[in-house]
Amino acid sequence: MKGVVFDLLRDMVEGQYGLEGWNTVLEKAGSDGMYLSPESYSDQEMMSLVLATSDYTGIDTDDLLRAFGQFMAKEFYNRFPSFFDNCDDLIEFLLSVDRIVHGEVLKFYPDANLPSFAYEEAEANKLTMIYRSDRMLCHLAEGLIQGSAAYYKKAINIDHDLCMHNGNDCCHIDITVLGGADE
Ligand code: HEM
Ligand SMILES: [Zn+2]
Repeated sequence: MKGVVFDLLRDMVEGQYGLEGWNTVLEKAGSDGMYLSPESYSDQEMMSLVLATSDYTGIDTDDLLRAFGQFMAKEFYNRFPSFFDNCDDLIEFLLSVDRIVHGEVLKFYPDANLPSFAYEEAEANKLTMIYRSDRMLCHLAEGLIQGSAAYYKKAINIDHDLCMHNGNDCCHIDITVLGGADE
């Protein structure tokens, strides 16, 4: 996992719980907290930090990953607005994540470990994102989707019935845009 993700977790925890909160998390996780954005650090270390943050805040890990995903989406918008601005609506943006957004990330960081998304579009206001990744961070994906919806000012509903955490080989994240497809 890239250092940039660790930096974002620190920003979120520090923003809500101060430097003292982040230092407690680092101590619990046994991390030194020295991260450089383009460097890679172990997925294991990220999981330890997430577990330590969950322990410190009392927020269960799935909800914590969802909150972190929402925070990440906001930060990605601040850092890379063109990915969002180039798309007219939420579904178009989500369809661009696998090949365009993460494709560009791979050009920038050739050793990035990105998930793969396949897509199913059954109806105009619905999209299924089929998530596959050894890291099984589907709840982070849910948060990233919610955070992206906030950017497009859309209310959405997410169903996540098929999940790798329940023994399936991929996750089906079903997104319904509420209140009409075009508004
Ligand atoms: C401008 C928007 C986005 C940018 C710049 C971006 C970039 C990145 C980067 C840098 C990583 C870390 C890769 C690594 O550490 O090796 C990552 C991971 C990830 N991204 Fe994105 N991303 C964006 C939007 C999204 C959206 C909207 C979703 C969900 C639909 C998503 C899903 C994920 C997930 C779940 C991971 C964690 C790795 C995994 O699950 O295997 N991303 N992304
Ligand atoms: Zn899942």
